[in-house]
Amino acid sequence: PALEAWLRKMPKVELHLHLEGSLEPELMFKLAQKNAIDLPFNNVEQVKQAYQFSQLQDFLDIYYQGANVLVTEQDFFDLTWAYLLQCKAQNVRHVEPFFDPQTHLARGINFATVINGIHAALLQGQQELGISSELIMCFLRHLSEQDAMATLALAEPYLDKIIGVGLDSSEMGHPPEKFSRVFAKARQLGLLTVAHAGEEGPASYIHTCLDDLQVSRVDHGVRASEDPDLMERLITSRMPLTVCPLSNTKLKVFSDMSQHNILQMLEQGVCVTVNSDDPAYFGGYMNENFFALANGLEMTADHAMMLAANAIEACFASGKRKSQLL
Ligand code: ADE
Ligand code: ZN
Repeated sequence: PALEAWLRKMPKVELHLHLEGSLEPELMFKLAQKNAIDLPFNNVEQVKQAYQFSQLQDFLDIYYQGANVLVTEQDFFDLTWAYLLQCKAQNVRHVEPFFDPQTHLARGINFATVINGIHAALLQGQQELGISSELIMCFLRHLSEQDAMATLALAEPYLDKIIGVGLDSSEMGHPPEKFSRVFAKARQLGLLTVAHAGEEGPASYIHTCLDDLQVSRVDHGVRASEDPDLMERLITSRMPLTVCPLSNTKLKVFSDMSQHNILQMLEQGVCVTVNSDDPAYFGGYMNENFFALANGLEMTADHAMMLAANAIEACFASGKRKSQLL
């Protein structure tokens, strides 16, 4: 309880957050009604009942369905703004959220609708809440290289609003090298790169996202601990891992928080960070993820400070902004 009060006040940076995963059931119902979209649930209680997952794919099926309620630019603004208000309430001062344009393009929503709504909210968050941000566009790895390449082409007029590209969705069977050419093109355009790897997939996927995709950070990466050579590589390069504790236990990557390897990796010198991934689905935002580590893993205030400092080191903010975050 004393540690929780202290964690609430600690300044935080979030580097692994899917905006579509911050869609709370209340807003989902409100938008479904406004846009006349059918939901397979009758009320918020039924939605929460449905949020029981035994692996990543169980979650993804429900997450893509939830995103169907997002239609207008205002909807994307409202989604993003609601997340930023949570950040403000939890003393999160810099964020680098992901969005999944392909989920929306497939439903006939324009790229402009999505990115303009998100960007307007991020700008207002900077101006009114003092929360700085950089936006990352993710490709869905279960779709083709060609689909990702077409999505990157749609983003070209908006490169001033995006700092980088990422890779998410079903990991198994969709290794990073499937997107080597797309990521090379993104880097040519001046974009930074990150990728989900080693969440459900093997440590070898982390090697290929370093070698083939030349990522600046690995999202999740928790299965790196199975590969001593990879651990050495991550430690010496200070390659950041954006770890998501509540996500990992909800999706059964670890059976229980007491089994999570984040503090072990921290103590070994890996640049691990704490993030919420899809807070509306996994039971909490940044503070709740830190609380879960305090309660399930005996995280101390010193650990928490190191984790928070790692996120500042790992973020894409300017040197000037980083010094303000410290
Ligand atoms: N999309 C949203 N959350 C994700 C996760 N944890 N892994 C892969 N894809 C995702
Ligand atoms: Zn994620």
